[in-house]
Order: sequence, then C-alpha cells, then structure tokens
Amino acid sequence: MITFPQTRTGLLRGGRISCVGLTITIGGSTISALFVIFTRMTEAKSQKVKPDIRSITRLVPPSGNLVQGQSELPIDQRLAAEAAQIIAASRNHYGGSEGDAGLRKAVAAKIARYNGIEIDVDARPYELMITTGGTGALIGIAQSYLRGRSALVFEPYYPYHKRILDEFGARTETFELDESLSFEKDSLLARAKALKDRAEFPLKAIIVCSPANPSGKVMTQSELEAVAAVAQELDLLVISDEVYEHYVTGEHPHVPIATLPGMWDRTITVNSFSKSWNISGWRLGYAFGKGELLAPINNAANVIYVCPATPLQAALSRVLMADPDYYLRLRDKFDEKRRVFSEGLRELGFDIYNSGSAFYLWARIPAEFSNAITFNEMLMEKAGVGVTPGAAFADTDMWDSYVRICIAREDSVLEGAMEKLKNIL
Ligand SMILES: Cc1ncc(COP(=O)(O)O)c(C=O)c1O
Repeated sequence: MITFPQTRTGLLRGGRISCVGLTITIGGSTISALFVIFTRMTEAKSQKVKPDIRSITRLVPPSGNLVQGQSELPIDQRLAAEAAQIIAASRNHYGGSEGDAGLRKAVAAKIARYNGIEIDVDARPYELMITTGGTGALIGIAQSYLRGRSALVFEPYYPYHKRILDEFGARTETFELDESLSFEKDSLLARAKALKDRAEFPLKAIIVCSPANPSGKVMTQSELEAVAAVAQELDLLVISDEVYEHYVTGEHPHVPIATLPGMWDRTITVNSFSKSWNISGWRLGYAFGKGELLAPINNAANVIYVCPATPLQAALSRVLMADPDYYLRLRDKFDEKRRVFSEGLRELGFDIYNSGSAFYLWARIPAEFSNAITFNEMLMEKAGVGVTPGAAFADTDMWDSYVRICIAREDSVLEGAMEKLKNIL
C-alpha cells in the first residue's frame, strides 16, 4: 500500500517548495520517505505567478491525478498487437517527412467521414501530413509562419500554444473571453486590427481551439463565422487545433472552421491521436490544409524531426478506420464520465461550466474558496487529489478561482478521487 499523507508547501524565489511524505507498506514492513519537490512557476508577461502543470502532476499519486491533460486509459489491444508485430518484423527505419502513405490514406478517410473534407492524398504539395504529435504540427507552423510575428489565442488558452511560439521567435497575444466564455465579433476585430497594424510582431494568425483546452468550450457556428470574417478582413491565417473533436457531447456540433466559405485557403488544421487513442507517448498527429500552406511545414518537419515514428504510423494505419463505431463509443464513454463526475462535483459546491464536450471539466471552485492555487494545494495535501488551477491558462486574474479537471481516467480512478474529495469538502 502506498500513502501520501503529508504535503507541506511554501513559496520560494521562482517557484514553490513542497515536502511530500510517502509511506509504503509491503508485507507488514513500513518504509517512510520525505521528498522535497521544487515546483517551478513560470512567469507571465504580467508577472502573474503561473502554476506549472507538469510539476503539479509530479506531486500527486496516480490515483488522484486529475491534473495532466492526457488520457490514461489503456491502449486499444489491436493497435498494440499491430505495433508489436511491425517492430518485430524490423520495419523500424526512416520514412518520408509527410508520413506513412497508408496512414495518410486512413487519415484522409477519417477527415472525409468526420469533417466532410475531401483530401487528395496524391496531390503535391501535400494537403495532409502526419506529424510528431499535434505539437510537431504546431512547431512546424511556428517555424514556418510565425517568427517575428504574433498569433492571437482566446483566454483561457492552452499553455503550449504560447510556449511553442515563445520558443520559436514568435509572440502570443491573448483575447479574453467573457465570464460565460463568449465574445463579440467587434471586440475581436478591434483587438486583431490593433495587433495587425503594429510594427513589432504584427499579427499573422488566430489560433482557434475548439473544443478548447482548458475549458472544453465548443465554439458555435456564429462564433466560428466571426473568427472567419475577422481573418478574411485582415488577411490572417487561422490555425485550428481540433485535438478534442471526438469528445463533443453538447448541443453545438464540432464544425471545422476550414469548411466555412473561403476558409480552406487560409486555415491549417492540427489534430492528434494522443488523446483519442491513448497514445500520448507515441507522438503522432496530423495537419491538413491547402498544399501551398502545408509545404513549408513539411519542410520544417523534415529538418526538425525527419519523420514521425514509422512503425507506430504503420500500426495505426491498420486500425484507425477498422471499427466504424470507435469514435462514437469513445464519445459516449466520456459523456458518461462527464455526467457522473460533474454530478459529484456539483454536490460538493463546484459550479461546472456547460462546455459541450467531455475531456476536461472547467469549474468554479466552491464559493467559500476563491484562490484555486491554494485550494488545489489543500486538495493535494488532505486528499491526495490534484487538479489544475485556472491561472495556468490565463494572463489575467479572471480565472483565479477556476480549475481544469481532466476526466480522461479509468472510472475506478474517478470514483476513488471523488470519494477522497467528499471526505474533505
Ligand atoms: C489543444 C491541444 N493541442 C495540442 C496538444 C498536443 O498534442 P500531442 O500530444 O499530439 O502533441 C494538446 C495536448 O494536450 C492539446 O491539448
């Protein structure tokens, strides 16, 4: 048995120091150890102290880890068997930077089926490429289009959208959503225009993340139309991150912005298999769009990565479209997790945002608390359960009393975490 009974935390220059007591009981003998962990805090432009998601993840035991945004469900056994067979057959060599031909074909079929977009896999330059995770696609885009320029993200935002741009000589600007996570087209246009007109880091792109990390928000058709209109008026690229497209459960369907009139010419769509196939360590994703838009990204990928992992691409190509109900079942499974876990949280006083998707829950912490960072430390210390404070996803203070809860966990883990929360709240 492993217990994490004691966590003490304090602020230190550049971060937070935590002492975690760990007790392991094996066959009647008990071993205790004290770990001192330094949690790095990254500083935003506003000098706001921002929680570091990976560091928090390391502070909680797996049974209480609702922190990190990855699916911890088991791999599909057919996929595991195909990969094992391909690796054992020595198909372990370099491939083209655009990806495995079989997987590109399977992904094109997926895009046709779920997004209503016909990709010509034989077209040159390539309209579809397999990437080293969604991250690999975003890095290729930053390297190709955004050096010395900026991109606009909707706050609360996915931190890597910002971190990747910072790393590749670009800048991220934020556009704050209101308290109901909505926005007016005119304010978006005004913000984008001011950024486009400036001399330094002029605006080049808008990053749309729908369903969103962290809030799960699914953009409505009219919101997507507003983004499209602004992009067209100011001649901007749209980078559409659709990693969570298969978790949509609410009234608004997932609409790929590339399908709106005139948007194929200026949209690069990014996606990933990390979450939906429970293979975040495999680093497989894809990007698609007009060939001329994709060509420099493929060139960047060739230099940076050479190619995504070839045996894993080949394995995925064999199962991706084999089961016509795969994504339907995935959505229903997550909808049930969302329903059950939300119900429990509401009973504890959380106010859950009705996002319309089911990988993350975005919630106002119970009314008697206001600071989600200290609230989360209390959860970790007393219950061994951790979530992600809203400040990790924002430069403003607006989301300081919110948390992101990742529910991509086995039901038994979610049930256990809920029990622990009930014991302390
Ligand atoms: C919105 C979003 N885009 C991209 C990624 C990166 O995906 P990958 O693991 O495929 O690099 C993530 C992962 O958390 C994400 O949440």
